[in-house]
Amino acid sequence: MKGVILAGGTGSRLHPLTRITNKHLLPIYDRPMISYAIEALVGGGIGELMLVTGGTHAGEFLRLLGNGDEYGIKRLSYAYQDKAGGIAEALALAEKFVDGDQCAVLLADNVFESSIKPCVEAFSRQKQGARVVLAREASQEHLRHLGVAQFDGDRRIKRIVEKPDDPPSEYAVTGIYFYDHTVWRVLPELTPSGRGELEITDVNNWYLDNGLMEYDVLDGFWGDAGESIEAYYTVNDFVRASRGKAER
Ligand code: DAU
Repeated sequence: MKGVILAGGTGSRLHPLTRITNKHLLPIYDRPMISYAIEALVGGGIGELMLVTGGTHAGEFLRLLGNGDEYGIKRLSYAYQDKAGGIAEALALAEKFVDGDQCAVLLADNVFESSIKPCVEAFSRQKQGARVVLAREASQEHLRHLGVAQFDGDRRIKRIVEKPDDPPSEYAVTGIYFYDHTVWRVLPELTPSGRGELEITDVNNWYLDNGLMEYDVLDGFWGDAGESIEAYYTVNDFVRASRGKAER
C-alpha cells in the first residue's frame, strides 16, 4: 500500500501565521506539524510516501524531509499543487505514484493518539472499495466544521455530510482515507462544491452510494490542527502533555 500526505491548501483559518509559512510546517510542541502525519503512516507500516504541497513554501519540505531516511521512509516523492483546488484535486496528483496499488491518504493537519496500523491492516484485507476512520466527537459546534457520518438502522454509514448545520451523528470523519484503484475513475467526475473545491466527501459518498465503503472507529485523541487557532492549540496542548508524560 502506498501513502499520500496532503499538505497543500491556503491554511486561511490560521492566518496570519500561514502568511509566513505553510500550515504544516508550524510547530506542534517540538516538531513541525508534518512530522506527525509521517509518523502515523510509517508507524502504520507504509514506507512509500508521496507528499503533495503547494504555495510559496514548498521548498521548505524538501529541506526538512530530504529523502525521508531520518523518518524511516523507504521512498519519498513530492508533487506540487498549483492552486488550492481542494483535497480531492490534490489527491489526483498522486495517481502515477500510486500506480494502481491500494492507497492511504492522510491530511497533514491531523494528529492521532492511537496507531492507525489496525486500519491499514483491515484495508489490506479488504478486497475492494474504500475505508474511512471515524472519531467520536461530542461537541456539536466542532462537528459543524467537519465531515459527519449519517448511519442507517444497521449502523452502516448511509452518507457523509460535510460541515452540517445539524450534525446527523456524533461521529466525525477523520482525515485518513483508504482507496482502491477505482478512486482514479471517480476523481475526474467531481464538480466543485459551494466553496469552489473538489471535495473528498464527494469521493467518499460515491463509494457509499455504490456499497463499497467500510469504516473503523478510532479511540483516543484525534485533532485537526488546521480547523481553527483554538483547535491548533488543543492539539499542541495534547501532544505537549502526552510527550511530557512519556519523557518523565
Ligand atoms: O480533518 C478532517 C476533515 O478534513 C474532515 O472531517 C472533512 O470531511 C474534510 O473535508 C476535511 O475538512 P477541512 O475543512 O478541515 O479540510 P481543509 O480544507 O482544512 O484541508 C485539509 C488538508 O488537506 C490541509 O491540511 C491540506 C490538504 N489540502 C487542502 C486543500 C483545500 C490540500 O493538500 N490541497 C487543497 O487544495
